[in-house]
Amino acid sequence: MFTIPHLDIPSLESVEGVVQLPGSKSISNRVLLLCALSPGLTVVHDLLDSDDTQVMLEALEMLGCSTKRSGQRLEITGLDLARLQNKTLSAPESLPLFLGNAGTAMRPLTAALAALGVNCTLSGIARMHERPIEDLVDALRQLGAHIEYLQNEGFPPLHILPSRMSVRSAVRVRGDVSSQFLTALLLALPLLSEQQDIEIEVVGELISKPYVLITLKLLAQFGVHIARDGWQRFTIAKGSEYRTPGEIYIEADASSASYFIAAAALSRGCLPLRIEGIGKNSIQGDIAFVQAARAMGATIEEGPNALVVTPSQHPLVGIDLDCNHIPDAAMTLAIMALFAKTPTRLRNIGSWRVKETDRIAAIAHECAQLGASVTAGDDWIEIEPIAPGQWQAAAIHTYDDHRMAMCFALASLNPQHCPVRILDPRCVGKTFPHFFETLFSLARTPVARIPVICIDGPTASGKGTLASLVAQRLGYGYLDSGALYRISAWHASEQGIPLALEHQGQIAQLVSELSLQFEGERIVVNGQEVSELIRSEAVGMAASQVSALPAVRQALFELQRNTRRLPGLVADGRDMGSVIFPDAELKIYLTADAATRAKRRHKQLISKGISAKLEDLLADLEARDARDTQRTVAPLKPAADAMLLDNAHLSIDETLELVLAQWQSKQPF
Ligand code: DC
Repeated sequence: MFTIPHLDIPSLESVEGVVQLPGSKSISNRVLLLCALSPGLTVVHDLLDSDDTQVMLEALEMLGCSTKRSGQRLEITGLDLARLQNKTLSAPESLPLFLGNAGTAMRPLTAALAALGVNCTLSGIARMHERPIEDLVDALRQLGAHIEYLQNEGFPPLHILPSRMSVRSAVRVRGDVSSQFLTALLLALPLLSEQQDIEIEVVGELISKPYVLITLKLLAQFGVHIARDGWQRFTIAKGSEYRTPGEIYIEADASSASYFIAAAALSRGCLPLRIEGIGKNSIQGDIAFVQAARAMGATIEEGPNALVVTPSQHPLVGIDLDCNHIPDAAMTLAIMALFAKTPTRLRNIGSWRVKETDRIAAIAHECAQLGASVTAGDDWIEIEPIAPGQWQAAAIHTYDDHRMAMCFALASLNPQHCPVRILDPRCVGKTFPHFFETLFSLARTPVARIPVICIDGPTASGKGTLASLVAQRLGYGYLDSGALYRISAWHASEQGIPLALEHQGQIAQLVSELSLQFEGERIVVNGQEVSELIRSEAVGMAASQVSALPAVRQALFELQRNTRRLPGLVADGRDMGSVIFPDAELKIYLTADAATRAKRRHKQLISKGISAKLEDLLADLEARDARDTQRTVAPLKPAADAMLLDNAHLSIDETLELVLAQWQSKQPF
């Protein structure tokens, strides 16, 4: 997951291949609660692992559920409800449950814990405390629930106090602010159905109906069948009891699929994208996004459990659509609208205003930053496409809203090749922690558009530390090219091959057959971990010898070039800027003098408990500098367009900030 302040996405050309998306958030959190309320063990497969499901799981564990996860499989044991009720009646203090910004945890847990009479407080992040819950609390109070607002009337945090709830007449709940209030009652009230049928009556027009259908379908899988009369009246039969299905599979998230459907439709390639784990048998309402995207011109084939999207060969067309049934995925339509020939109007989306952020305002503001003209009202938005030549590179605010980040990543497919900066990319953790990694694994773009920063310099100039820090701060990959020469020298020596010119062909052959794995700091060569081994002074010296052999340099050439991957690369070595990536946008050449470098290396070795003499180190350094600068192929020297940076008197942090500032000065944001 990218936990950096911003992520720059280079202009993308297409997405293609096959992708399996993470589980549905709506289904995952409902299933977790249903498992908790059903006696016995349930095995859940493909549960979404994200911020929203994490807070739900933690709350259920605090209440007494035991869970065991291994890979995509979670075992969860239902709550002992009688014990939980007895415990809270005797407990002097309320149980504090923190639910982040997960509406799918806050609303259903409020209802279920009120029905069980558990003494607890429910709180979340600041935005959660601005999201309404009054309609649900009012409905629960009709039944005798004792719920207090701890800050502002109508909003979390809440205090639920033990009370005995009873059902005498139909429970009335408003359905026009959030359908989660009705969902919460449908999930909780079977707990009170021992003595009588329970009727729930929806007041006002129910919004986001497909989400209520998900609730009803999942309830049925857990043994509770609810009768409904249109969307106005729901009846829970007397004696309804939860029964675990034993095992349950979670579908891939249909809202998450919308970003990939859109990306494939907006692609300028010709190869399809296959999205697995969701298809026409889906129980998620957002699958209806497929029809909306088709109406805009997308070509989508729907199988029972997969979607295949082929790039639209013609510009998309605008649509005028009531989006009440697909409130989340409709945000993706807003971004597709930027690419269309004609304007798009999305109507009946009032609920956007009370989601993770005011999404109508947020979409309007950020689309305008990209160059679009947008008008909006209380519950609608109209987007003019961006005219040719009018796209602007923009730094997109995401308002701690995962969907803002994921939607606006699609703007990187713009025909004008503008990059896009996503601020606070970590917010995707709410529902799709590896969204950007997934996007980059499917995305194609000409290699020249993938940014590279080269950091070259002599031995012990600090380039390795600097380069890996720059890479971390930008979320880019990191190439330590010196490690490749070290590995080559170490491996050739292991095989007993002298590191001499007459053996260069043999060494080059060996090098081209190496199996290499770089996993963060760990380096594995032909199955053996060599991370520490290759760092010795002796291997460094041998690397310097091997690196003077033209055939070895040639053998490593393509390997190094192939590390240029999305979203960008920071490469360190001797010839990154001069030979490997001559077209890099930024080339830094560190020039600290040999005496300073020898002192640094000395300090570093001593701190690792390795004894070393300063004079010897200096002599070694000078010998390596001499060999590296005098060799005939790719000698150590700054590229003509490199920025020389003498870091002898700078700390690593100061050098880092200088390089980042230099990089930023080249960005269009
Ligand atoms: O950066 P380092 O100390 O890990 O590099 C080990 C040797 O490899 C160094 O003496 C020179 C050589 N090298 C090179 O010739 N070209 C590179 N791009 C990187 C390293």
